[in-house]
Amino acid sequence: MNRNPVNWLAAFLIALVMGASTAVSADASQGQKLATDWCSACHFVNGTGQASDSVPSFGQMASPATYPDARLRGWLHAPHPPMPDLTLSRYDIDNIIAYIRTLGR
Ligand code: HEC
Repeated sequence: MNRNPVNWLAAFLIALVMGASTAVSADASQGQKLATDWCSACHFVNGTGQASDSVPSFGQMASPATYPDARLRGWLHAPHPPMPDLTLSRYDIDNIIAYIRTLGR
C-alpha cells in the first residue's frame, strides 16, 4: 500500500513543475485575456476598450514596422507615465506580444 502523503505530494510537485516548464512558449489566447482584463481600460483592444488619440490601439501595435517586439518588450518591462507599471512577468509580456501579433494578420 502506498498511501504515504509525502509520496503523493512529491508526485504532485513533479507534475506541477513539468506542467510549468511546458508552458514556456507564448500563448496568444492567454495574452488576449490579459489585454482584455488589464489593458482595455486605456487601450482599444480589438473591439473593446477605450479609444483615444494619445493611446495607441492594439491594432496599431500589431504593425512590427512601428512597434517591433523589442519596443513592446522594452515598454512593458518599464512603461513610463501616464501608463502605469503593471509589473508584468516575462511570460505575461510574451503572451501579450503573441496576442498583439495575431491582430496584424
Ligand atoms: C491606466 C491606463 C493604461 C493602462 C491600463 C495600459 N496602458 Fe498602455 N499606454 C497608456 C498611455 C496613456 C500610453 C501612451 C504613453 C505615451 O505615449 O507617452 C500607453 C502606451 C502604450 C504602448 C506604446 C509604447 C510606445 O512604445 O509607444 C504600448 C505598447 C502599451 N501602452 C501597451 C499596454 C499594454 C499591453 C497594457 C496592458 C497590459 C497597457 N498598455 C495598459 C495607458 C495605459
